[in-house]
Amino acid sequence: MSNLKKDEVLRITRNYEQVLEIINKYGKAKEQLLSIFLDIQAASGENFVAEEWAEVVARELELPITQVHDVLTFYAMFSIKSRGKYVIEICKSTPCHVSKADATVKMFEDELGIKLGESTSDNLFTLLHTSCVGACDIGPVAKIGDEIYGNLTAVKVAEIITSYRRGFACQK
Ligand code: FES
Repeated sequence: MSNLKKDEVLRITRNYEQVLEIINKYGKAKEQLLSIFLDIQAASGENFVAEEWAEVVARELELPITQVHDVLTFYAMFSIKSRGKYVIEICKSTPCHVSKADATVKMFEDELGIKLGESTSDNLFTLLHTSCVGACDIGPVAKIGDEIYGNLTAVKVAEIITSYRRGFACQK
C-alpha cells in the first residue's frame, strides 16, 4: 500500500491530469517540446519541471528520456528544482562584475533575507546568478522574467522587491 498521504495523492493526480492536458493541447508534437515545458513549468506553481513530469512528457511524445533531460538542462529558462514565482538573476559577467555585481547580490540578499541560490519562504523569489543579458552599459544588472533592471542601488532594489510583492498581492 502507498505511503503517500491523501492530499499528496490528490496533488500528484491533479498535476498528472494537468500535464496530460498540456501535452494534448500541443497534439503531442515533438517540435512543441519547449512550449510544453514552458506550460508545465508555469502550471507547476513552483516554477519548475519535476522529474516525474519530464518522464510523462518523454513517454507521451515517444522521445528518449535522455533527450528530454538534455533539453531541460540546456535552456536556462527551465529548472528541474522548485523555484520562487519570480526568479531574480544577477548578472555576473565581467562588465557587471566590475560595476559591483557582488554588492548587488548582497543588496538583494539583505532585502529578501536569503542567500544566493535560495528561495524566500513564501516561495515568491529565488535569487540566482546569470551571465550577460546584453545590458552591460547599465550594470550592475538584474533580470526578473523579461524585465531588466540596471544601475542598481540599495534603494532601487528595495523598490523593485516592493513592486513585485504589491503586484503579486494585486493578482490574488
Ligand atoms: S555583463 Fe552584465 S549585462 Fe552584460
